[in-house]
Amino acid sequence: MADAPKALTTHALLTMKAERRPIVMLTCYDALFARLLDESGVDILLVGDSVNQVLAGAATTLSATLDQMIYHTRIVRRGAEHAMVVCDLPFLTYQVSREEALANAGRVMKETGCHAVKLEGGVHMAPTVRALVDIGIPVMGHIGLTPQSVHALGGYRVQGRDDVTAERLKTDARALEEGGAFAIVLELVPAPLAREITKSLTIPTIGIGAGPHCDGQVLVLHDMLGLNDRFSPKFVKRYATLADDVRRAVQTYARQVRDGTFPDDQHSFER
Ligand code: KIV
Repeated sequence: MADAPKALTTHALLTMKAERRPIVMLTCYDALFARLLDESGVDILLVGDSVNQVLAGAATTLSATLDQMIYHTRIVRRGAEHAMVVCDLPFLTYQVSREEALANAGRVMKETGCHAVKLEGGVHMAPTVRALVDIGIPVMGHIGLTPQSVHALGGYRVQGRDDVTAERLKTDARALEEGGAFAIVLELVPAPLAREITKSLTIPTIGIGAGPHCDGQVLVLHDMLGLNDRFSPKFVKRYATLADDVRRAVQTYARQVRDGTFPDDQHSFER
């Protein structure tokens, strides 16, 4: 009958934390990269609402829509065999009411085949996390710098630098764990605080700009590949410089088309 799930499970992530095996997560927005990342052994493909900035060219994630996220998640799922696929719930699809959150997250699960959803927020979102988990939807939390609140936070800044906000983040993390989240993204949080939160939880933390003590790490794929080369914050390490490769290749192609050296005999048909 139904085939057993081949993808990494939320239970496997708990084991990875317990065994101190770091979790590898990257953002992914399409089937081609999903296949490449899956073949490379990435554990979790996050269809982040950052797609709205990285691919759609918007200034923030705020205008991302549910249909947009469903489209990208569905095509990522096509390319992924072993990796867990997590879809970001976009701004205002889960904050207005619990009923809307259930209906929208349910739509994501039904229409994309993804394995979990991610939402931003701590204590105030914990009851929503509980409601989603209770109907069988695994939820990844996201605290620290939460990009959907960028205007309220006064920009893309490190969070939890003073005692009051650090305490608030610890409370947020506990509330999400108690609400049933299976993992929590910690974004732009000082490394010692991320370490303390990580040690205090049984569920894994996945850091971005949160230092080396989290249970896993996530980066935006196009940043770490050097494709998005206009964006270079401190926490992004570039593992390739693909924007340079693309420009070089396209300039060579354009020159060869213009000077008539492409296509040559090797790339043409006689009959
Ligand atoms: O949307 C996104 O890409 C994210 C990551 C930065 C964690 O939420």
